[in-house]
Amino acid sequence: MSTTYKLDTSTSRANPTPKPMKRLTVPRIRARKQDGETKEPLVMLTAYTARQAQLLDTHCDLLLVGDSLGQVIYGLPSTIPVTLEMMANHGAAVVRGSYHSVVVIDMPFGSYEASKEQAFESAAHLLKETGAAAVKLEGGEAMAETVAFLNARGIPVMGHVGLTPQAVNVLGGYAARGRSDAEADKIVSDAKALDDAGVFAMVIEGVVEPIAITVTKAVSAPTIGIGASAQCDGQVLVTEDMLGMFERVPRFVKRYEGIASVIDKTVATYASEVRDRSFPGEDQTYQPKD
Ligand code: KIV
Repeated sequence: MSTTYKLDTSTSRANPTPKPMKRLTVPRIRARKQDGETKEPLVMLTAYTARQAQLLDTHCDLLLVGDSLGQVIYGLPSTIPVTLEMMANHGAAVVRGSYHSVVVIDMPFGSYEASKEQAFESAAHLLKETGAAAVKLEGGEAMAETVAFLNARGIPVMGHVGLTPQAVNVLGGYAARGRSDAEADKIVSDAKALDDAGVFAMVIEGVVEPIAITVTKAVSAPTIGIGASAQCDGQVLVTEDMLGMFERVPRFVKRYEGIASVIDKTVATYASEVRDRSFPGEDQTYQPKD
């Protein structure tokens, strides 16, 4: 069943809400992989704002309120400083702007690792404050008990293995993972542990392709690749990366547009029209009625 719908997204800033529609659910996402096969790959993109969510919603199965918002929105050097409140605020905006996709919110660094009880408190806060359906957390075997704990208490969890950006200080950078046998084995066992613990899907980020394929075959939950393989059960990208908002992007990003240069050209035209007083023109000014 195709999940791409036509929705009237012709909104204005003063009237931002398009027609509501039926939202996909976590069980429907999980059920897209049956007996190890996913006929229709899952489409996920990051979203951080209501309007962005509106524009992406009809084309996606899942919207991820990623902690990448730390870098993309807040100009932070990594995802480490991102707070639970940032995630709650942006998560609520994305839920308000979407009607179709399952909204998943990243649990930020420091909000879930200390104990399964801490993870429950943080995840429950995110779901209550936003209306999102699920959370995502990074880590493998070490997080399996937490995943099972959350699941048993009504909180669906998406896993995240391979390159886990919140562990940048341990990993020493953002290089692709799984090049040594030991690293590859660890990624596979992490993924299996999350699968057994009941994740409804898992992101595989920045791993050599054969490992992504091995993991995808080894687990029952759908895998969602980023810098992984087209053979994953779905794909995710950071929306600003794929739209071409930045000059430099990781190798695995395909830039589908050059939005930064569109903005640059548009703003240059505006600035020049303000300076030569050709804006505002007749169409943009109010005159007294005759
Ligand atoms: O934070 C994020 O945007 C992510 C994706 C890159 C998977 O975790």
